[in-house]
Amino acid sequence: MDEAAELTQIAVRATKHDGYDDEAIARFMPGLKINLALIAAGLVFVAEGENGVPYGHVSVRPTGIGGLSLLDGIFVDPAYSRRGLGTRLFATAIELSRKLAGNVILINSSPHSVEFYARMGANKIGATPFVFSPDVQLSMFAFAIPPSTEHGT
Ligand SMILES: CC(C)(COP(=O)(O)OP(=O)(O)OC[C@H]1O[C@@H](n2cnc3c(N)ncnc32)[C@H](O)[C@@H]1OP(=O)(O)O)[C@@H](O)C(=O)NCCC(=O)NCCS
Repeated sequence: MDEAAELTQIAVRATKHDGYDDEAIARFMPGLKINLALIAAGLVFVAEGENGVPYGHVSVRPTGIGGLSLLDGIFVDPAYSRRGLGTRLFATAIELSRKLAGNVILINSSPHSVEFYARMGANKIGATPFVFSPDVQLSMFAFAIPPSTEHGT
């Protein structure tokens, strides 16, 4: 399996772990498939173990609205969940968004991830149907990126 397919499979496993069946996964698939254009743009980060096996990944994309970036996806292989990996990936999303000159990250959260984003410090600002499966209501969060403490940025 090539790396892109492996990353997509992590997203599939993570979503199945939240209780969605194969039919739901098939509907969600356009949203779970790793985005090759974002990889090419350097907007995907993969967390790997020492053996080079990917444990999770995160991606952000520009929105075209100044200062606003969108969390495209954040997925941790369920075999490694609740070990702080999602927190580390979210920190990377902040760095990737800074590269896009973003100061706010918009997040469309599945119902199973709202506590995670609240814990990350994001604020719920609304709700929206999942474009690939409108029966699923997503919570919209906004995360305000703190000013960088790094010199010169
Ligand atoms: C959401 C997700 C990225 C979190 O990854 P993770 O590595 O398990 O997260 P962390 O270990 O860094 O969790 C940090 C904190 O977030 C909260 N949290 C994370 N998952 C949670 C859950 N399922 N229920 C409640 N709180 C949760 C907890 O406060 C946790 O701290 P604790 O473990 O000390 O209690 C991961 O569960 C995932 O891939 N989910 C499925 C895919 C998905 O829905 N992605 C988001 C698309 S919108």
